[in-house]
Amino acid sequence: MTTSMPLADDATVVQRILDHIDNKTTDLSEATWREPVENYRSEPRFAVERRVLRRHPTGFCPSAALPTPGSYVAREAAGTPLLAVRVNDGRVRVFRNACRHRGTELASGAGCEKAFACRYHGWTYNLDGSLRHVPDEHGFPGLDKRTRGLVSVDAVESQGIVFVTQDGSAGATLEALPPLIAPEYRFLGSAEIDVPANWKIMVEGFLEGYHIRATHPETFYPLQFDNLNVVERFGRNNRIAFPYRAVNKLRDVPPTERSVDGKLTYVYHLFPNVMVATFPGRVFMVVVEPLAIDRTRLITSMLTDRDPSDGAAQANLERGGQLVNGGALEDREVACAIQRSLVSGANEFFEFGRFEGAIVHFHQTLRASLEAL
Ligand code: FES
Ligand SMILES: [Fe+2]
Repeated sequence: MTTSMPLADDATVVQRILDHIDNKTTDLSEATWREPVENYRSEPRFAVERRVLRRHPTGFCPSAALPTPGSYVAREAAGTPLLAVRVNDGRVRVFRNACRHRGTELASGAGCEKAFACRYHGWTYNLDGSLRHVPDEHGFPGLDKRTRGLVSVDAVESQGIVFVTQDGSAGATLEALPPLIAPEYRFLGSAEIDVPANWKIMVEGFLEGYHIRATHPETFYPLQFDNLNVVERFGRNNRIAFPYRAVNKLRDVPPTERSVDGKLTYVYHLFPNVMVATFPGRVFMVVVEPLAIDRTRLITSMLTDRDPSDGAAQANLERGGQLVNGGALEDREVACAIQRSLVSGANEFFEFGRFEGAIVHFHQTLRASLEAL
């Protein structure tokens, strides 16, 4: 595990941004990348990509989505139905979401339960997954309830996120992470939307600021710079800083007192398929969940550290939320337009240039992970 965190501190990031503004420059990667279009269309490739997702610790939900013992979140991850539960000892356990009798899913969506009773025949499981009760147990001679608890997968909490590793056979461990979702952030809820596009197209859309002016002329561009980013790697992951025009106000603030709140968005890309994006008073965690080769579910969890009784703060959040929703819609439209063109025959590969270094890192890491399978 890496012990040092190679990410720059906020003051350094702000200085790099101000220098880029003055010099009309942006961060440039050393490497460029050509990704074969076939890799967005190939069923065998999709199948092995989902194996990578199952072998890596991947973000499942914010810790704050499981605030008390009994809170749960159920959803599919890389094709597997999983159920995350906060247990009475305060830890999070994650189970394969299937009854040990005849397999009925035990929970869906999110909520809070004292135990999980199967809707089919009523087998009932404690929060820790142990099988508590079998109605008319005499019908199952020789059943050893101790061996029929829910099947768990590895789960660990780090920096406000629950990570799961479905297939621990590769021994992949979670890397050291920077602060992501601070404990004071409350979970507001989550929203899901299915997009008819390959999951890697969706991931790529978060990872560069070269498209801000062209794609987001009336949403992000009035407030943000086009093609002006600080791009950093940490382990398999990326962090991209998207500065707001208001960052210029920090020129008058001594470097050690410069706060990035309201001055930039950080997008943390947690390999392979999770983004954490910071906005004033808000953090969004987006899971880019591959459903099929041409279909992706975006699961967006919203968190805030603002006081719900502060009307002005809430109005600001509301305005900011509308802006982000408008920008996200534009990103989805572009992703669908790319997906539709995959069969056009125009491109053998997609070309990622020096402004798109975080995407280069994503594809390098994905290729290395596929080769290591
Ligand atoms: S399938 Fe769950 S109790 Fe029968
Ligand atoms: Fe975008």
